Amino acid sequence: MANPKENVLMEKIVSLCKRRGFVFQSSEIYGGINGFWDYGPLGAELKRNVKELWWQAMTRQREDVVGLEATIIMAPQVWRASGHVDTFADLMRECPLTRKRVRADQVEPQSGVVVSYAGADEHLAARWRALSDKKQADPLKFSKIDQAELDQLQKEISPRMAAGIAHGQLKLQASKTTGSEQELWGEIAENYPNLRPVRDVEPISVFIKDAGNIERARKSAKEFYRQRGLIVPQLIGEQVSEVKDSINFHPESGLELTPARPFNLMLQTWVGPIQSDENVAYLRPETAQAIFAQFKNVHETSRQKLPFGIAQVGKAFRNEVTPRNFTFRSREFEQMELEFFIKPDEAVEAIQGAVNVEPVTGHPGEPQANWGWQKWHQYWVEERVRFYEGVGLSRDTLGFHEQTPEELAHYARATTDILYKFPFSKADETGNVKGDELEGIAARSDFDLSQHERFSGKSMGVFDEELRTAWTKLPPEKQTELSQRYFAARLNYLTKSGVPAEAAEKDARADADGLAKGQYIPHVIEPSAGVDRLILALIASAYTEVTDTDAKGKPETRVILKFHPRVAPIKVAVLPLLKNRPELVAKAREVFQVLRGEMSAYYDDGGSIGRRYARQDEAGTPYCITIDFDTLGEKPELLNTVTLRHRDDGRQERLAISELCEWIRARIR
Ligand code: GAP
Repeated sequence: MANPKENVLMEKIVSLCKRRGFVFQSSEIYGGINGFWDYGPLGAELKRNVKELWWQAMTRQREDVVGLEATIIMAPQVWRASGHVDTFADLMRECPLTRKRVRADQVEPQSGVVVSYAGADEHLAARWRALSDKKQADPLKFSKIDQAELDQLQKEISPRMAAGIAHGQLKLQASKTTGSEQELWGEIAENYPNLRPVRDVEPISVFIKDAGNIERARKSAKEFYRQRGLIVPQLIGEQVSEVKDSINFHPESGLELTPARPFNLMLQTWVGPIQSDENVAYLRPETAQAIFAQFKNVHETSRQKLPFGIAQVGKAFRNEVTPRNFTFRSREFEQMELEFFIKPDEAVEAIQGAVNVEPVTGHPGEPQANWGWQKWHQYWVEERVRFYEGVGLSRDTLGFHEQTPEELAHYARATTDILYKFPFSKADETGNVKGDELEGIAARSDFDLSQHERFSGKSMGVFDEELRTAWTKLPPEKQTELSQRYFAARLNYLTKSGVPAEAAEKDARADADGLAKGQYIPHVIEPSAGVDRLILALIASAYTEVTDTDAKGKPETRVILKFHPRVAPIKVAVLPLLKNRPELVAKAREVFQVLRGEMSAYYDDGGSIGRRYARQDEAGTPYCITIDFDTLGEKPELLNTVTLRHRDDGRQERLAISELCEWIRARIR
């Protein structure tokens, strides 16, 4: 479990986000919609900054990465080729009563009492009575199906029941109290042994905290049988037992969960006026596939040579079973993804003589021509960590998870997840908090482009002149060795993708022959980050409480969001010392106009200067500028200077207005 104190922190963060306009629940006025969040004025700025910084770092500051902005809805074949239609699913279990789903791997263990039933009976007489009551209560709502059943029951039981009533043997109070129900069934069974009950033999178990809650279990079980068609169910075979750390019961309803079943996470829609199966389309569950689908166009038009990357930022949609932890797992979210295409190791070896596999810890340095997939993978992990440090997440707040062979997709060679220690992140048995995923960096081999080549019938390969030339100079035994290795890798991919053995062999041979002519399908390293998770990490990391004493000596706790100036939604606030002095206001507006042209600036003249500072601290504004009488020349040597206050320590310094812009710009770049 996460530390309860830290969940209090999470609550404070959620409340601050709403109070200050970072994040609101989507459609809040209608009660919200689970898994969807809106960013308010401060959140929108913060998000823009994050995406802009990522774009800068990943494309504009690099010569080897270009950008893409693709559509959210693509041809459905894209998702068949990528494997999402068949395999993008979570294993889920369902409450058989409420139909609420939980991810099979996320059910919290529960200890207590389990009440089990072998099934339920319903006496025909009770059913007849319940249907009659229903008809009497609202004849207009009484359906034809109900009427047909009532007629049938009437035929079967009516003469005998009428006789029973006439003899005063039956008090048909079936739907009133449990006591009278019990009495009634006993009486009916005794007097009318031929009237068999309807029996539902589906067993059901209900978890309750302790035996004192047994009525709750009975109520839920009856509701369960009612949903299955009985109108007045009589539970049979009640058994009570103890259970420890069971993950078989729904956390809310307590009913035993259904067996785990895969549930596809893609959200569907229809394209065009006809809502038919042929027109089904998907809202993309990741931005990456558009990059693969457009690989050829981008490669040709950007005149990039391998290794190079294509970056994209945009919305993704997943029908998450259990959206949770605020924006951490949402159904609509944004991704920042890079597909970095590299040469297969066999090509690198052919050109460079050997692939550099020397182990180094940390960043492997500037890219080198003899890097294979391992070095490139390490490089991107370290580049991404540098990025996170650059936006204010220190290394000690991050964690790492190397996916185990069982966790890895069959085509992936390695995946490193960069984690952040969120307030809700759980500690392991040793008390160590590893964190939750912020970004995954995957070495995905040539799987994605190969899939699109097979499904579209369009070549996704590239021609590498350097390789073609190098190959001709290789000794024959090296050619054979590399060719065999490449053949084996391609055969493995084709076989695992279900290509029949003979065809797979033939295609893999053709691919190996292609390598000798300088042709191959690029491999890819994929750093894939979530914008919303990063925003949440930045807010959690910036959240700081300080306790000041007010004028009367009373302690007062307030919040400072210590954002890195690069990501801060507002970079600078301009505050005239007094609102009622036109000369101060005029000067402050003048300074504000200059600054807002260059960065996100805010003008505030409401309330005491202390209150205004506190408001900006809570918004995470790193610098506040006060225009006072010295600015206007009360002390001539301070003419046209302002007081600049630092958010994190309240430190103040005097700066000339003329140098303000550059001073701040240098700190937010
Ligand atoms: N193309 C690879 C891919 O999409 P992923 O691990 O499924 O990989 C990448 O997603 C990143 O997207 C995650 O590390 C996370 O930051 C973000 N992400 C994924 N699902 C999310 C969700 N439901 N809500 C918010 N962010 C999510």
